[in-house]
Amino acid sequence: MFESLTLAPPDKILSLSVMYRNDPRAEKMDLGVGVYKDATGATTIMKAVREAEKRLYDGQTTKTYVGMGGDDGFNKGMIRLVFADSVSADRLFSCQTAGGSGALRTIAELLKKARPDTTVWLSDPTWANHAPIVHAAGLKTATYPYFDAATGSVRFEAMIEGLKSAKAGDTILLHGCCHNPTGANLTLDQWKIVADLLVERGLFPFVDLAYQGFGDGLDEDAASVRLLAGIVPEMAVASSCSKNFAVYRDRVGAVLLLGKDAEATKIAGSQALSVTRVLYSMPPDHGAAAVRIVLEDPALYEAWKTELEEMRSRMLNLRKGFAEALRQQSNSSRFDFIADHRGMFSRLGITEAQVDALREKFGIYMVGDSRFNVAGLKEDKLEDLAKAVVSVL
Ligand code: LMR
Repeated sequence: MFESLTLAPPDKILSLSVMYRNDPRAEKMDLGVGVYKDATGATTIMKAVREAEKRLYDGQTTKTYVGMGGDDGFNKGMIRLVFADSVSADRLFSCQTAGGSGALRTIAELLKKARPDTTVWLSDPTWANHAPIVHAAGLKTATYPYFDAATGSVRFEAMIEGLKSAKAGDTILLHGCCHNPTGANLTLDQWKIVADLLVERGLFPFVDLAYQGFGDGLDEDAASVRLLAGIVPEMAVASSCSKNFAVYRDRVGAVLLLGKDAEATKIAGSQALSVTRVLYSMPPDHGAAAVRIVLEDPALYEAWKTELEEMRSRMLNLRKGFAEALRQQSNSSRFDFIADHRGMFSRLGITEAQVDALREKFGIYMVGDSRFNVAGLKEDKLEDLAKAVVSVL
């Protein structure tokens, strides 16, 4: 059986962690995979989540199945967290998934059932796993222009022109906030223009919301989704708790669906559950149950928000500090865009050979397209890093 197989290529993002771990150099720097790190380089468990896990441990009396959609309280909490009161509750459905990736795959499979000939349009560039996930569900992809590497900003007019090539019934995958890998985001005015275009052309919005709370704030980062919800008849959102609750390995995410009315929502939700039933039957409970406890307890919720806000503002300061260090070392404004971007990532805009040189000479690890994880930066190493970057230009 297996003799027909050849070795799968290493994952462009996750393989970096292995290389980093095996690098013996003390001064090495991990700017690869999107995991938040504090000033000491540790990825700690958030205090509110820790407390919720304690309560879970003390109160849990059974490990019997929860149900196909996972934890009801979690699902209600996720609807509130993402949509707030932007649209009536009977038009919204949520089911818990195995992380944001599980949500993406479930939505892709749902689209395949609903409209097998839909083309899913991805931003150029986008997260390295988007196209593989969509293709695995048997759907076609196309790309729309998004990022201008020369200016470090969104090519908005080109994006709109590109989206006009999509045909009615196609799906547009959008990053709700904190665009991965570029960190360049749409303004709310631009979201409004996109939303109107989607309605005018009969295009279906599929939003990846993996970094809510890491950009401009919890509500600010969901403003795109809430704006869309007030304008478009239907949409799907893949939400992840991996980063904002720091529950990476517990695999916590949600499929959120907006239907045109209560009946359509119920039908779409039932089909989403029949997708997950054959993918993995039921989602893992532990992490989502802990997130539910945080979302339902006002004191824990406030503590979580405060900690998340500290993480967000630390990343913003690192962005400013790194842009400033690069300005000084390069004697140019070439990298100023880093301070304007939001979220966990930006692209330095250097070549793959230069990225390789940073790794080989200095033990600095980033993705081959020069995407770096802002949270992997260290306050006291910004100057060294900027020097290293400038040395390979
Ligand atoms: C990333 O983009 O680094 C994260 O979303 C982790 C992953 O699964 O790739």
